[in-house]
Order: sequence, then C-alpha cells, then structure tokens
Amino acid sequence: MNIRLHDGPLAELKCDSVFVPLVGGAKLGERAETLVSRLRQSGEITGKHGELTIIHEPNDLAASRLILMGVGKTFDADQAFRMAGQALRAAQKRKFKSLVFALNDGDLVRSVTEGCVYGGYEPPKYKSDEVASTVEEIIIIAPGAEQSDLETGIIVGESVNLTRRLVDTPANDLGPEEFAEIAESMGIAAGLKVEVLDEASLETLGAGSLLSVAKGSARPPRLVRLDWNPTEVVNDSHLFLVGKGVTFDTGGISLKPANSMEKMKYDMAGAATMFGAITAIARLHIPQRVSCLLGLVENMPSGTATRPGDIVQAMNGKTIEVINTDAEGRLVLADALTYAVQQGATHLIDAATLTGAVSIALGAVNIGMMGNDNSLQSHIKATGKSIGEQFWELPMNDDYLEPMKGDLSDLRNAGTDRKAGTITAAKFLEQFVDSTSWVHLDIAGTANLDKAQPNAPKGASGIAVRSLVSTVETWSI
Ligand code: BES
Ligand code: ZN
Ligand code: ZN
Repeated sequence: MNIRLHDGPLAELKCDSVFVPLVGGAKLGERAETLVSRLRQSGEITGKHGELTIIHEPNDLAASRLILMGVGKTFDADQAFRMAGQALRAAQKRKFKSLVFALNDGDLVRSVTEGCVYGGYEPPKYKSDEVASTVEEIIIIAPGAEQSDLETGIIVGESVNLTRRLVDTPANDLGPEEFAEIAESMGIAAGLKVEVLDEASLETLGAGSLLSVAKGSARPPRLVRLDWNPTEVVNDSHLFLVGKGVTFDTGGISLKPANSMEKMKYDMAGAATMFGAITAIARLHIPQRVSCLLGLVENMPSGTATRPGDIVQAMNGKTIEVINTDAEGRLVLADALTYAVQQGATHLIDAATLTGAVSIALGAVNIGMMGNDNSLQSHIKATGKSIGEQFWELPMNDDYLEPMKGDLSDLRNAGTDRKAGTITAAKFLEQFVDSTSWVHLDIAGTANLDKAQPNAPKGASGIAVRSLVSTVETWSI
C-alpha cells in the first residue's frame, strides 16, 4: 500500500474512487456541488458521521466513483482519522485498487494518513482462504500539505498496527520469549537500544513479585528494556513507559471461568502499547529521552505455580501476600516500576489491562487514568482529546490503600471485596514508584474492540499509542 501527496487538480486523476468529506473537503466543480446540495435538500445526505453517499461516474471527474463522507459538523483530527479508516475499509470491501482523498487544505494530512494506515490494518493470518487487500495506491490532495506530515502519519499508523498485531496474535504463538524476540529485532530496526533480561537476571535483581507470576508457566519470563537516547534533547526529563505484558492470563491457581477466557491473550496489550509508542518515538527522532520496560510473563496454574497465601518479596524490598493469583498484573508492574525508578526515571507512565472493574466504571469509552502528577495527567488527557482518545481521572485518596495493606506482609495483592477495584489496584502500584512523577493507564476496557467499527475489525484497538506519541512530541512538563 503506497500513500502519497499530489498537488495537481483532482478532475484529471483516474482512480476507483475519490473520497471527499462533506466538511473540509475539496471543491468538486459546479455540477457536483449542485448535485450535493440537491441530495442534502432531499434528506438523502444528512452529513452525520459515518454516512457514505456513492455517486458513480461523477460529472467533471476522471474517477469512477465519488464517495461523499459524513463527518458531523466539524472536520477535526478525530474525524479525519476515523473517516480515512472507514474509507479504507469501504474500499477494501469493494475491491478498489486506487483511491484519492480530496481535502481543502493540508492541516489534517497527518491524521488522514494515520487513519488510512489504521484502516488498512491486516490482522495476523490464520484463515486458510485469506484474501489479500486490493488497495495498492492512496493519493491525498490537500493544498499546502507538508510531506513530513504524511511521513509522520505513516510511522505512527504503522506503530499502532504493530501494537494491534501483537495483541491479536494468539498466545501459542506469542509467549514472553517470542514477544521479547520481536521487541528486540523490531526495536533495533527502529533505532532503539535493546536489552532483554532473562529469568536468571531477574532473580539477581530480586524481582520476586514478577517472578512469582511466571512460576506456574513452562515458558520463562522476560523483562525487555528499550532505550531512545537521542544526541539532542530538549530537556533533562527521562520518561519510562512501562507495560503489563501478560501474554496469557488464566488467572493461575485462582483460575478464571472458561467463559471468554480466550480473550486473555490480550492481557499483554499494555506492553504492546508501550512498545508501539517507543518505536514511533524513535522512528520520528523525537528529541526527548524515553525508555520502555516490558514485563513479559504467562500466568498459568500448575504444580509449580504460586498459591494464594504465598508471600513474595518485590524488588524494592516490600513483601506481598498473594491473595488472588488472578491479580497478577500489579505483581508484574510492581517490579517493572521499581526497576524504572532505580534506573533513573524522572517520569513514569504505565499501561495495563489491569482490572475488569475499569469496564464497569468507564465502559469502552474512556481509559482509566490515575497517578500522583496532575499536570502530567492533564497533558495526556488534553493530548488524547485532540485526537479522539479519551482519558478520565479516578481519585487516589489514601483511604483506597487500606484494603491493600497486609496482615503478615507489607501489602496484599487484592482486597477483601471488589469495591473501587481499579483504584485500589492503582494504589498498590503507587507503592512502587517512590516520589517519581507517575501516571497509570488502565486500558482493560478499551484495548479490545468487542464489535467491528467502521474503521476497524473486531479485536485489538491500538488505543493510547497515538496519544502517548503526541504526549512525548508536545512534552512541556
Ligand atoms: N487481566 C485481568 C483484568 C481483566 C479482566 C481485563 C477482565 C479484561 C477483562 C487482571 O489480571 C485480573 O484478572 N484482575 C482481577 C483483579 C481481582 C482478582 C482483584 C479482576 O479485575 O477481576
Ligand atoms: Zn488476572
Ligand atoms: Zn491480567
């Protein structure tokens, strides 16, 4: 799939379809404009988001079809991203080979490009009768557009799709070792320094909390570190992106019910999100020091698994009673966060499919956001809003830590009831960040799409990658 800008007139461009948003689109010539206003008057075009109006053999255009796209009242970065993705999927369904986007200016070229790449996502191939995408060429006409915006859009879109592909890959093909190998080869290709810590190194580091989760699995854990250390940096901050990478979560001895357990292959979405984000940050040469830690483990029940009631010691010395082996994400993050602090992080952002409770609180609409740094949270929230990803803060009063205090141990990994489960989990994590500025993103409700969307099939959403890249690009903390 090749995407490029074109700065000639639209009328002469031959293609299977020209896609034009009803707000922010290019002028189409008098006869087409008259037709559009007639269709609006008759109510056939309402302009609401997602509406497609297909006109065959349009007047004054060399294209075979003109597809008018409803984008609501304003054409912003969010609409541009979703419209482009929907157009791509509509084109694939109709077996188009070439398509054109015609916009009235170049302001949203990055979002349109990100949307095209996102819409062109191909999930991992397992069907025996798989048909390849037909779309070969995408041309964007947008007066004043910058080539660099197109290139940025491609890199960011590809990084989001890398995240999605990892999340959609079943756990038999993606355990901790396989994930680490992919992170190593693709990380190096993106210009990152990569270090893979194996079980022995984790033991030396005293990562007893993370290791306790891996004990039930035949597949050994990995902690992957990726560093983007550009020669020119604009400030002294060193951000660590930390991801929960439970490549499959059975619940361990506190076994999950069979119903929907297959979805737990996506329990590594936090790690995939952070990995996608840092590959984009490196490929874009953002002048900001950023590292990434991926805590990769498989949570299985077996004769060697951790039992409820076992007490383990985390890397920062704190002891934890494992009340519920299904509350494993926080055990993995505890050591990954401690390691980030020890390695000199000035700022921490973690992403994790941490709690089922976040879906109860916020559904699939908002990412649950908690932490100890309001200004960093506000920055992430505003950045997300500008591109159509929603983050919502939950309170972090110290009272929420009470249920996580241990009897025999410093901490316990689960309370006695399910109340405020998303927040009590975050309070647990807070015990491992010292005074470092930290934001926790609970993506359990948003990382997976239960239903196909106009711009995406069912499966991994890739949410938060774009927001994190933009957060680092516009870093002002
Ligand atoms: N990976 C799950 C969180 C999850 C649950 C994500 C359902 C998506 C859908 C996590 O490891 C977990 O099982 N959390 C428990 C914690 C509880 C035992 C304190 C939960 O949310 O039920
Ligand atoms: Zn679990
Ligand atoms: Zn989990």
